[in-house]
Amino acid sequence: MSRIAYVDGVYRPHGEAAVHIEDRGYQFADGVYEVIAVRGGRFIDEALHLARLRRSLAELRIEGALADAPLKVVLREVIRRNGVINGIVYLQITRGIAPRDHAFPKAARPIVVVTARRRSRPANPKLAEEGIGVITIPDIRWQRCDIKTISLIGNVLGKQQAREAGAYEAWMVDGDGHVTEGTSTNAWIVTGDNLVLTRVAENAILNGVTRQALIAIIRREGYQFAERPFTVTEAKTAREAFLTSTTSDVMPVVAIDGQPVANGVPGQLTQKLRADYLAHVVG
Ligand code: PDD
Repeated sequence: MSRIAYVDGVYRPHGEAAVHIEDRGYQFADGVYEVIAVRGGRFIDEALHLARLRRSLAELRIEGALADAPLKVVLREVIRRNGVINGIVYLQITRGIAPRDHAFPKAARPIVVVTARRRSRPANPKLAEEGIGVITIPDIRWQRCDIKTISLIGNVLGKQQAREAGAYEAWMVDGDGHVTEGTSTNAWIVTGDNLVLTRVAENAILNGVTRQALIAIIRREGYQFAERPFTVTEAKTAREAFLTSTTSDVMPVVAIDGQPVANGVPGQLTQKLRADYLAHVVG
């Protein structure tokens, strides 16, 4: 089955799908996006993704984008046309097409692009068994990382640094020495007294949908939990560490900057949380 993309109202073969060269996404990274997991033909935590999408659009003052109801029809049509039962959907909305000028154009209307990809779920089960390594790098991004904008160059450079260091992810560190988040994931640790910690969702991080779903699970299961920043030293001396995202689920972190976390194998609580999260995904 050949891949089909949705571009501004039209379903097109993936190889021919294109936007105009003056799309503001292309020229200014002036747009937002979501990545939603599909499992058994169902969108995982779709309502949370759509709520975050609306928030991102509102924060960037992008008005007149496709409403939730027609957007949900498009999402379903894209997975149907691509035969995706398990996979991910990528959804992008830019401010539109206009002659290049930094200020908002008067006449542009938002351009929606949706693509889908098959992927086996859960993602990376072998990696999850062994756990992965992260490096720490300075967070060089802007002060509104809570918006899921397509302006991702700081994240791109960070992920490349991780790749070149042989690590799965880079955890970015703010000026106070606290971990903000990964380049495409949220960061978590479990302290020596079994307190699960992740940074509060303010401007410095993206409020991950996986993060939100896992917090609900943690509260339901009654684990000790706090939302506060943690330092790189706290992370390196933690009992357990892990990261979360739509494409990584709950992934154990077993090394930070080449140093093992505890004894260097996935933590027990992390594995329990991963199992609980995967059960939530299956529904
Ligand atoms: N990344 N932090 C950042 C900077 C992210 O880009 C992402 C998601 C997350 C986790 O969010 P969620 O749990 O909603 O996937 C945290 C997506 C998957 C991506 O860019 O591909």
